[in-house]
Parts: sequence; structure tokens; C-alpha cells
Amino acid sequence: MSKTEETEQHLNFPIILHKEGSTSFYIPDLDYYKMDISEYLPSKLPVFFNPTMEFRRDISILAIKTYKSKKLQKITFAEPLAATGAMGIRVANELEGITVYINDISKKAIALIEKSVDHNKLDNINISNGYANNFLIECAKKIKRFDIIDIDPFGTPVPFLNSALFSIRGDGLISCTATDMPPLVGIRNNIQACVRNYGSVPLKTEYSHEIALRILIGYIVREAAKYNHAAKILFSHSSNHYIQVFVKLIHGILLANQILTEIGYIGHCFKCGNRVSFKGYIPEISNKCINCGNKLKFAGPLWLGDYADKEFCQEMLKNLDDLELKTKNRIEKIIQLIINEDHEIITYHEIPKICKKENFIIPPFENIIKSLRQEKFSVNRTHFSQSAIRTNATREKITQIIKKLQPR
Ligand SMILES: C[S@@+](CC[C@H](N)C(=O)[O-])C[C@H]1O[C@@H](n2cnc3c(N)ncnc32)[C@H](O)[C@@H]1O
Ligand SMILES: [Zn+2]
Repeated sequence: MSKTEETEQHLNFPIILHKEGSTSFYIPDLDYYKMDISEYLPSKLPVFFNPTMEFRRDISILAIKTYKSKKLQKITFAEPLAATGAMGIRVANELEGITVYINDISKKAIALIEKSVDHNKLDNINISNGYANNFLIECAKKIKRFDIIDIDPFGTPVPFLNSALFSIRGDGLISCTATDMPPLVGIRNNIQACVRNYGSVPLKTEYSHEIALRILIGYIVREAAKYNHAAKILFSHSSNHYIQVFVKLIHGILLANQILTEIGYIGHCFKCGNRVSFKGYIPEISNKCINCGNKLKFAGPLWLGDYADKEFCQEMLKNLDDLELKTKNRIEKIIQLIINEDHEIITYHEIPKICKKENFIIPPFENIIKSLRQEKFSVNRTHFSQSAIRTNATREKITQIIKKLQPR
């Protein structure tokens, strides 16, 4: 059977051409798989595709372009869990000087990818069909280690991270996406899954998404250290129902040791909303709230360092104009928020939660920010939530300020 015949044989389901960035590629016909007027499940399609993840792919194109701009030579990109190949095909089509390696376990996915590669007349893509971990390790052994690896599974990236770390070059870039939010944000009955997968205890709080991101980063940093790599965080974000981290690996035992000092714990007081952080693997922890004496609850071990490199963020902003991306405005907004956030201030405060507890009317955010700044506190909005602020003021202080801003 010729390759074309085999491709067509596996494509026994309705497909359509779809456009993202400046690339068209084939996906299952979403209308055909709708369960009611608007709903369909990406994971129930013959080949996984989630159009709302365009933002993740757009941000990835921008981060990869920014990383590539420092490299003169041709580099390689691997997508071990490719599904429609949307990410890899876009990298091959939209960015210069990158050879792409795409893999998926599903034969239907491979057939779809082949059709899209033919459609775009791309000659810089290698396609393979097999287990992601085998693909990464075999490629690293036979060809050479990759410069960039994108791990984007359905759920947790944990089963794929070790082979990615084995197959990445020193100085390489790993993008890691997690969609297993119930364990990571500490939803009841899911906590043990977080402990099993990430070796970390989550905590359901108003800033659970930040804890989730810090747990994932902490896990990547600890796993990378096993390979004597320091995982430098270039960019990360929490969007919709997933989190994504871009790390650059820097080889070196001393650096790996040093970066591990940013691992620690967050303690939260569920009585007064106060929170504290402790760096270290076995830090000296006081489990009493310094504000009200209540017993603290803890999350960790997790990452307490910066969750993005602000210089890298600035370079991403500069590169944004050169790209054709539908989500450009949203990307610009999120990067700007991340640049403005003081990452050393751990956790953020949900204003509606404070107001609900105290029976306050929610004042305009700008007034809260202005009042806190007048009292010399560091305060900014956060990309994690539109209704929260990140500040070094205590919960008590924020409450006092909001009280003063109540209409008389
Ligand atoms: C969430 S989808 C990937 C989405 C894709 N990255 C995108 O941007 O649209 C996960 C894919 O991983 C594939 N997969 C699951 N387990 C695998 C494994 N062990 N090895 C290789 N592929 C696997 C599935 O067939 C599915 O196509
Ligand atoms: Zn307290």
C-alpha cells in the first residue's frame, strides 16, 4: 500500500481545513462531532483538537521565536504528543530555521498530519508514530538531542518529563502544559493525585492557580536537577483551565543546587486570610498565624522564585509585532500583567472575597491600588485573576483600606 493510500485509509472521518496564525491544517470536522448546538469534547474526536488552545499555541510560537532569535544555527523542535500536529506544523510553517519532529501514538493523527504537511508543502518536518517516551529517547540516541520540546498531553505532563529531560540539549527549551487542574488546585478527592504525580501537596485557596503553577514549576526544577540541569524559568502563565511553563535548561551542578534553594512551602490561615512562605526543603516553619494565632495549612514543596524572566517577556513583546496571531491583544495584555507583577510577593488577594466577608461594597480597583501605593506598598493587578491584586500589604491592611473606601 502506498503512503497516500494508507493515509486515506486512516482518514475515514470527516475533516476540514482550519487556520491558526498564518497556517492552515486539517482537523476533524468539529460541527459533525457537536453533541448539542455548541458542545463537543476535544478528547472524543477521532483526533484530539481543542480550538480554544489556539492561545497556548500562539504564545508558544512567540516564545519559540524569542528563544530562537538568540541562535544563529538551525535548531530542532519536537512535539511528542502531536494530535493534529497543529503546534509542530505551525512551527515549521511560521518560524525560520527550525527542523520539526512530530510524533503521536494514533494512526489517525499521523494520517491527518501527513495530509496537512502535504497541503503546506513542508519539507522540514519528520513524522513518526509511536510512544512519546520511545520517540524522544530514540531520536536523542539516533539523531541528536532536541533544542526545543513541547509537552502538551491530555492531563498531566509528568509521565513525559523525564524522557524530555533526557532528550533535551543543555541550553534547550522545554514547554510543559498541564491540564490536570483538579489535583493541582487541590479539589477534594484529587489531592492524592497531586501528591502521587508531583510529590507535592496542593491547597484549595483563593490563589490556588498560583499554587498550581508553582507546584508544576517546582516539579520541573526538581526533575531537571536530577540531570544536573538548572531549569531557568523563561515564561509561565495560568490561562483558562491549564497552566504552561517554558524552561531553559542550563547544565551545571552548582547552578542546579542553587536553583533548588527557591523551593519551599506556602502556609495559609483560613481564619484571617494571612499567608506566609518558607524557602528550603526542611525550613523552620511556624505553624501559627502571626496575625491571629490560628493553625496554618500548608502547600508544597513548590517553587517560590520568579515565574517569568522579565527580560525574556520584554523580548517576547518586541517579537509580537512580526507575527500573524489572532490572540495578539490577549497575549500582549497577559505579558504586560506578568511584567508588572512583583513575583517575589507570593500569592494574591481576591477583592470580592474580602468584601463578601466584611459586607463591603467592592470599590473601584484603581482606588484600592492608589490607596495602597500612597501607603508605600507594592501593589499590582495579577494575570491569574481579574478580580485580585498582588501586594505586600497584609490582609488586615487591605481590609482597612477597602473599609476607608466605602461610600458614606
Ligand atoms: C492533548 S493531545 C495533544 C494536543 C496538541 N499538542 C495540540 O496542540 O493540539 C494529546 C495527544 O497525545 C497522544 N498520546 C497519548 N498518549 C500518548 C503516548 N503515550 N505516546 C504518544 N502519543 C500519545 C494522543 O493520541 C493525543 O493525540
Ligand atoms: Zn490568621
